[in-house]
Amino acid sequence: MADVYIPVGSVSGTATAVAVACAKALEAAGHKATIDQAASVAALNAGNWDAVLVVTSTTGRGDIPTNLAHFYVELEAQFPLQNDRPFGVISLGDSSYDQTFCNAGALMEERFYQLQGKAPVPRVTIDATETQTPDDDALFWLQEWMSAALTSS
Ligand SMILES: Cc1cc2nc3c(=O)[nH]c(=O)nc-3n(C[C@H](O)[C@H](O)[C@H](O)COP(=O)(O)O)c2cc1C
Repeated sequence: MADVYIPVGSVSGTATAVAVACAKALEAAGHKATIDQAASVAALNAGNWDAVLVVTSTTGRGDIPTNLAHFYVELEAQFPLQNDRPFGVISLGDSSYDQTFCNAGALMEERFYQLQGKAPVPRVTIDATETQTPDDDALFWLQEWMSAALTSS
């Protein structure tokens, strides 16, 4: 059983719905999952998390949604080293934004690498122009992430 922290960045709820679907799948597989729509370094440090799963959309011009942006800034300021703790990133976006497609997920992934987290599976990008079922796409990726990130927990 693993305890997974799920910071979420969402503007209009799509990423939140994906996070909820992932939490249910994790629980169905016997793990614990905690979704945080106002993620903080304090919560990251307080929990005895076995893994971190970031689920975020991209807004503005490649920006992290407001409810996750604070966490991103805090991570740089406080620099909580992850000591090879496994993480994963599910990144929602829209490829019509071209240059900034899924940029928020890329930023979060980069940040966790800087903090010496370990990503057993590279982040997945979910393109709103290509799928009507972001939950299913995320769950497909999640199966691989779960077996790579959580088996030894
Ligand atoms: C104002 C606005 C700006 C956006 N900017 C980007 C962007 O720069 N890059 C990108 O990949 N997607 C962008 N998107 C697309 C969203 O990331 C995508 O629709 C996502 O599924 C929304 O998820 P949410 O409801 O959780 O916020 C933008 C959407 C809106 C409405």
